[in-house]
This record gives sequence, structure tokens and C-alpha cells, in this order.
Amino acid sequence: MTTSLSPATITIVKATAPALVQHGLAITKRMYERLFVDLEIKALFDEAAQESGEQPKRLAAAIVAFAQNVDNLPALAGAVERMAARHVETRVKPEHYPKVAAALLPAIRDVLGEAATDEVLAAWGEAYTFLADVLIAREAQLYVDAEPTAA
Ligand code: HEM
Repeated sequence: MTTSLSPATITIVKATAPALVQHGLAITKRMYERLFVDLEIKALFDEAAQESGEQPKRLAAAIVAFAQNVDNLPALAGAVERMAARHVETRVKPEHYPKVAAALLPAIRDVLGEAATDEVLAAWGEAYTFLADVLIAREAQLYVDAEPTAA
């Protein structure tokens, strides 16, 4: 993985990660309330949950874990590989990523209130996009690998 986040973003994300960890469950619950208004997204999780009910909750937790390691991205390589594999199994697509961002960032503000300033949310938005781009690229490769090869 390459590092292309600005030093200012890394500083803000790391400084606010403990608050997200502390309020992680509330943020996760709020995020899913917002996310599942979109029935296409809800269906992705409903089908997956039949196999593993608790896993959707790991999504927000993984984003927080990413924030804690935002200055040590090689430490996340294994986690990225597991997430990408699960996303390909559940047919997550690039166009779904902005919808998660649009649920997560307001959920952070809902729960943290004024502590989640515009500057903090902008930094988290940048960090999310960075991780999303890493996942989307890996998933694109896995989708290609899964295609039947022409005889
Ligand atoms: C940066 C963004 C994202 C992160 C960090 C993330 C993280 C994760 C993690 C950690 C898991 C569990 C993997 C495991 O089984 O070990 C997971 C599963 C899953 N994610 Fe994501 N995810 C992201 C974006 C998305 C998006 C955009 C969607 C689609 C709306 C999505 C849908 C799912 C689904 C359906 C599962 C499977 C849930 C289950 O097994 O019950 N994720 N994700």
C-alpha cells in the first residue's frame, strides 16, 4: 500500500480515533440506520447475514482500526485482504462505497456532536476515500481473477 494521505489528515484522524473507539457501537448503529434506508444496500447485508449475522458490525470497527494504523499502513495488509475477499463474495461494487461514506460521516457527527467539527469530518472523509480506493482496486483484481478464462 502507498501512503498518500496528507500529514494534517493523519494527525487529525489519529487524534480523534480514540473518541470513535469509545463511541464505536453507537456510531455503528447510527451508520446502519442511515445506510439501510437504501434497500439495495440492505439486501447485500441481509443475504450475507444469513451466513454470518455479526459481521456487518465489523465494517465500522475496521474503519476505526484503519484510523489507528493510518501512519502504519503495511500493518493493515492482511485486514485489507480479508475485507476484499468478503466483499467479492457478497458482490460489493465500487458504486456502493460513496453510500457507506454518506452514512458513516453523518453518523460520526450524530454521535460525537460538536466534537466532530467540519475539519474532523473532512479528514475522516479523506481517510475513508483512501481506504475505499485500496479496497476497490484489490476487489477489481479479485473479480477479474474469478472470471472464467476463455478456452
Ligand atoms: C472502507 C470501507 C469499508 C470497510 C473498511 C469495510 C470493512 C468490512 C469488514 C471488516 C468486513 C468483515 C470481513 C470479514 O468477514 O472478516 C466487511 C464485510 C462486509 N462488507 Fe464491508 N467494508 C467497507 C465498505 C463496504 C461497502 C461499500 C459495502 C457495501 C455497501 C460493504 C458491505 C459489506 C458486506 C455485505 C459484508 C459482509 C457482511 C457479512 O459477512 O455478514 N462494505 N466489510
